[in-house]
Amino acid sequence: MKFLSMLYKLEEIEEGMAKLYKSLFEKYPLNLKASTLFYKMYLEEKSHLNLVRYQKRVVWQNQSLFKDIDCQSGDCLESTSEEVRRALDMVEKMDLRQAVEKAIELEKGAAESHLKGFTRNSNLKFGLFLENLCKDDVEHYSKLERFLKTLKEKDDANEIAEQMLRKAISL
Ligand SMILES: [Fe+2]
Ligand SMILES: [Fe+2]
Repeated sequence: MKFLSMLYKLEEIEEGMAKLYKSLFEKYPLNLKASTLFYKMYLEEKSHLNLVRYQKRVVWQNQSLFKDIDCQSGDCLESTSEEVRRALDMVEKMDLRQAVEKAIELEKGAAESHLKGFTRNSNLKFGLFLENLCKDDVEHYSKLERFLKTLKEKDDANEIAEQMLRKAISL
């Protein structure tokens, strides 16, 4: 896989994650804890997206400096990107707990967490840049896990009440 193609895939993933957190933030306006967390994550994924776009321009201008990456890593990115797309289609159907679990799964996702290994082979500076993105996502994953632990039955009950209210309003 061409190095630049890897960046296009990465762009898809960061953009998808930003969209996912934005949708979740908009879905839970009454749950302050959840909406604050999702909004912060949305902003961070957006800044990842901007960084990847910037790097894409750099690589575009210096393509000969970047070796191709191995296919396994390419497949890995493709499947994560696909997973993110699927999650985006499911936002409305998932309850809060399921959404957080899904986000954890995605953050843990092969592409972002395996970047370390293959990027080092291509260009050291660039490898470090991607490694930092990777660290941020590991942090996201821990934040979501902490949030999941604080989710109480009360939140589940509130969500059901909110859904019923929305239904009643739309009748
Ligand atoms: Fe990210
Ligand atoms: Fe992330």
